[in-house]
Amino acid sequence: MVSTVNMAVNLGGIAMRNPINTASGTFGNGMQFEGFYDVGATLGAITCKGVAAEPWDGNPAPRLAELGGAAIMNSVGLQNPGVRGFVERYGTYLQGLSDRGCAVICQVAGHSLEEYEQAMDLFEELAPFAAGFEINISCPNIAAGGAAMGATPASAAEVMRAIRPRTKRPVVVKMAPHDVAEIGRALEAEGADALSLINTIPGMAIDVRTRRSRLARPTAGVSGPAIHAIAVRMVWECAQAVSIPLCGIGGVASWEDAAEMILAGATAVSVGTANLYDPTCAVRVVEGLEAWASQQGVSKIGELVGAFEA
Ligand SMILES: Cc1cc2nc3c(=O)[nH]c(=O)nc-3n(C[C@H](O)[C@H](O)[C@H](O)COP(=O)(O)O)c2cc1C
Repeated sequence: MVSTVNMAVNLGGIAMRNPINTASGTFGNGMQFEGFYDVGATLGAITCKGVAAEPWDGNPAPRLAELGGAAIMNSVGLQNPGVRGFVERYGTYLQGLSDRGCAVICQVAGHSLEEYEQAMDLFEELAPFAAGFEINISCPNIAAGGAAMGATPASAAEVMRAIRPRTKRPVVVKMAPHDVAEIGRALEAEGADALSLINTIPGMAIDVRTRRSRLARPTAGVSGPAIHAIAVRMVWECAQAVSIPLCGIGGVASWEDAAEMILAGATAVSVGTANLYDPTCAVRVVEGLEAWASQQGVSKIGELVGAFEA
């Protein structure tokens, strides 16, 4: 059956050919997946790994562990080559993706307000290929900045106030898994164009023989299918609180998972950890979502956003 559903969505000014995006840090910067499928022809958008003004080494290894129950844990700590290094390595490839209709969202990271501002200014100058920016105020794996910046409505609003005047392109804010309604409202009030949620949920994994953490740090971020139901609930709560569009993230591994996010109120949906163990997952999610929308009898996928009936 040839679908006649219009799959295009708009994430706060970021035009996407379909709702499927990739979660920052789980998809390289797209190029690493080209051996599996044609990224530029398939996805609505990709969100790149978090990048700061200057290069960061990230945390010591081990920084990834597989847990039981369809989850992994990471404390990568935003290892990145700095905005200049990122643009040098990936700029041409990302421009190509953008030219082919796959929106490129660059993720902005920092340890302090000043560092966010510096990274944003460098991106604004050096990344013409970016359709928009995602501000990461939710990384649980760095000592300063990250989740600390997004911990309260006031601190999240402060970051948004600093970023907003620095770009006219759409700004998405990546939120931590707590107080999403209150923090979402504060970000909307400061001019955020869209919100993405959730980042990983802080957890611990202890090796009972050595009595030490299974990773180099005591705590790390849990992700994967095990967190999906929590993420859907948070998307739903946030959607009740704000009128800007949301990108749903958390344990999406099938088109049904993506459809749940859309019904809960997400305009776009990111595939994250599933990319790591099933590299073609996002392709099947795109295809399955279109078949589902067609079966639901809508002419635009957007008609299903928030269509959950409580
Ligand atoms: C290895 C790894 C690296 C990640 N790096 C980032 C990052 O740089 N920036 C960010 O906002 N989130 C990062 N995340 C979090 C994901 O983008 C996503 O929010 C989270 O994993 C939940 O989605 P999932 O369950 O589908 O993976 C990372 C996750 C993993 C597993």
